[in-house]
Amino acid sequence: MLTSVILVCFANIYVYAENSCQRKDGGYDVTINVRGQPSKEIREVIAFHAYISKDADRLVFDVTKANQGNGYNSNTGVFTCPKTGMYVFVWVIRMVTAEHSTELMINNSVFGSTFLRAKKGDDGSVSGTAIAHVSKGDTVYVRNHSAYAGDGRILSNLHGKPTFSGWLLQ
Ligand SMILES: *[C@@H]1O[C@H](CO)[C@@H](O)[C@H](O)[C@H]1NC(C)=O
Ligand SMILES: *[C@@H]1O[C@H](CO)[C@@H](O)[C@H](O)[C@H]1NC(C)=O
Repeated sequence: MLTSVILVCFANIYVYAENSCQRKDGGYDVTINVRGQPSKEIREVIAFHAYISKDADRLVFDVTKANQGNGYNSNTGVFTCPKTGMYVFVWVIRMVTAEHSTELMINNSVFGSTFLRAKKGDDGSVSGTAIAHVSKGDTVYVRNHSAYAGDGRILSNLHGKPTFSGWLLQ
């Protein structure tokens, strides 16, 4: 009779062998016990991507290309966080004849901003990126700068579209 305990630990599973008995043929009979749950980390995907479909005044990204988790509302342009965590947000603004600033709002506070200047007749794009801890129920959207919206017109066509995207990191 051989009493040995072999402990193997990987992820959150414990596998150990005990009560090994030597058989007549020289081999061992080993009882294996497994404790704990297999690590089945369920990664919930939350992600959205939307764009402004036509030249506009409003910063409402009205066409939704992806909306896993259903957090984004294309009527209001507001993402309402379905799950607390670290998120990435990216927004792109394309305008013509503009001097314009936008703000990324998280939970009604300014979290990021962009500035774009395009001379008369010219157009251009600017993008902003933010990584933020957002709680369930918090709202995220893009608006004109509260103190300095400037001027210009949003452009959207085959050559370039203003977009707003976000996804959960963890
Ligand atoms: C966001 O705002 C709501 C409503 O005012 C508040 O209950 C919540 O705690 C805020 N969350 C954060 C992360 O500031
Ligand atoms: C945002 O600013 C632009 C440029 O000044 C203006 O044309 C547009 O009407 C503004 N949009 C909103 C929703 O205030």
